[in-house]
Amino acid sequence: MSELTIRNIQWFPGHMTKTRRMIGANISLVDAVVEILDARIPMSSRNPDMNGMIGNKPRLFILNKADMADPKMTDKWISYFKKQGIAAIPMDCKSGRGVKNFTGAVEQLLAPLLEKRKKAGMIGTPIRLMIVGIPNVGKSSFINRMAQSKRAKVEDRPGVTRTKQWVKIGSNMELLDMPGVLWPKFDDQEVAKRLAFTGAINDDVVDIETLAMMLLEYLAKSYPDTLTVRYKMTEFTEMGGIELLETMGRKRGMLISGGEVNTERAAITLIDEYRSGKLGRMTLESPEDIDNG
Ligand code: G4P
Repeated sequence: MSELTIRNIQWFPGHMTKTRRMIGANISLVDAVVEILDARIPMSSRNPDMNGMIGNKPRLFILNKADMADPKMTDKWISYFKKQGIAAIPMDCKSGRGVKNFTGAVEQLLAPLLEKRKKAGMIGTPIRLMIVGIPNVGKSSFINRMAQSKRAKVEDRPGVTRTKQWVKIGSNMELLDMPGVLWPKFDDQEVAKRLAFTGAINDDVVDIETLAMMLLEYLAKSYPDTLTVRYKMTEFTEMGGIELLETMGRKRGMLISGGEVNTERAAITLIDEYRSGKLGRMTLESPEDIDNG
């Protein structure tokens, strides 16, 4: 099995502490927390400290980028979260599919509270929601979809302070766009690998050939048809990462002088084709992975 080394990840524990403090300070202002996850890696795209930070606030998961995930696996994840008492809805903020289900899901989540408010005559009180997620998961895309406008994206960078923003959605909802970076758990090898596949970890800090070999090993095991259909690869079940990469490159005619395969070019092609969806819709982890440790 190939091993992934991550070079120079900029890890700012102080920054994370600040984010945690900020979430803690604002949690009492909201009725629920909306956590945006990547539907292809619902577990790996979570911040590991989130449970501790939000306590027992009602929460809703958005499985974003569902357009790129395996729909059967997305259903499986939704049932899994439901069993844990957490509502989750699939979404594609790029096309807007699934966005219209959001308000209904929130109203269902907060039904007891809304009922209480109605009885107390608090008709005009807006529902307030905190929006959180790791970088690049689609927070801005989601807020823009909900606000039906293109707001300027404010980058979260260590050292740059931005303030929290309330975004009004119609007359009865307000979204709290939280500043601060929520890191995923990239010190875990399996998690880091999946984050790197999807591009959530910058390519500059990983070795692209190692990454491609690991992706090919995963595809050979979990989505073998992709390799047959896209790269015309056959009889690869016994192959290791390097052999898979060479075979894929050879099938694509990516040769250098002497007939050797240009493995770097093959790796870049594979990762690009995977990320642009040319290999089909795939999910890189299943609820069983968690249950099996
Ligand atoms: P962030 O605020 O959480 O950091 O994420 P942001 O909304 O900026 O989204 C990060 C990237 O993910 C963007 O792509 C965005 O278009 C894409 N994206 C967001 N939601 C979805 C989705 O549901 N499906 C797919 N396929 N992509 C999604 P980008 O290439 O960085 O920018 P852009 O040129 O596409 O805007």
